[in-house]
Amino acid sequence: MLKPAVLVARAIFPEVLQTLQQHFEVTDNQADVLFDKEQLALSAKGVDGILTTGSERVDAALLAACPGLKICANMAVGYNNFDLAAMTSAGVLATNTPDVLTETTADFGFALILATARRMAEGEHFLRAGLWNRWRYDMFAGAEVHGSTLGILGMGRIGQAVARRGAHGFGMRVIYHNRSRLDAATEASCAARFVSKQDLLQQADHLILVLPYTAESHHAIGASELAQMKPTATLVNIARGGIVDDAALAAALKAGALAAAGLDVFEGEPRVHPDLLALSNVVLTPHIASATIQTRRAMAQLAADNLIGFLLHGKALTPLNGLR
Ligand code: DGY
Repeated sequence: MLKPAVLVARAIFPEVLQTLQQHFEVTDNQADVLFDKEQLALSAKGVDGILTTGSERVDAALLAACPGLKICANMAVGYNNFDLAAMTSAGVLATNTPDVLTETTADFGFALILATARRMAEGEHFLRAGLWNRWRYDMFAGAEVHGSTLGILGMGRIGQAVARRGAHGFGMRVIYHNRSRLDAATEASCAARFVSKQDLLQQADHLILVLPYTAESHHAIGASELAQMKPTATLVNIARGGIVDDAALAAALKAGALAAAGLDVFEGEPRVHPDLLALSNVVLTPHIASATIQTRRAMAQLAADNLIGFLLHGKALTPLNGLR
């Protein structure tokens, strides 16, 4: 029997690729060429499934170019690279990789909170530049983390994991805002209190963004939201670029309206707004919040298992859209 055909759109772990090769006719991209729209459509022509990452956009144009496509398995929990409505109406299943990255991503979020509040990147750059010649009472004196107020915008699985770290590990007072309020038991397990977005902005000493990127969350943090925050506060974004208006953030940081920011994601990444690059009170990392070997392997394996489950047995493990 002919094996289904699958495109793996980016380089992945060789052992996961081997698993896919046992079940499918695989076109790989271990050279990790970044496909533009046309190259992606050309490479995906005739395939039954694609293993995508956040870099590949699956929209109506791609779906029209690939009429035989049945599933796109994203190696990411976020899926703003998918036009889910277009996929559903084309009868193409979408899957993502939830759960396997929750704790790892929360660890990184907390690392950014600490690095930002305690000015670790600034201190390191100073030292590497050979500028350290004495101890001084106020050198890189930052903001307290333990015992402060942690604000969380977006309270899904990762937000809850960040809350647990803050409340139980660092004795923080945790407040959150989310589209819908958590049930009482979940709130109690995170020791987190639901507040309005305005209260969150005004009360947080450290605000972390962990919400999905959608049309509604575009620039959820812009000039007017930043103006409501304490000038001593820090902001961390581990969610998606576009949730923060990066130009407005750079202006607020420059004006001293906000103490510091830690950013793992950027509008239009991998480009970074030049005004952010010019500032010292930002910690910048290249979209690596889920990047441990173990977690990235688990994400790749779950994406592969979704392809295998759906194309060979008719059932994916973590579907995003119901198909008729
Ligand atoms: C995710 O899983 O959404 C991460 O941002 C990796 O892309």
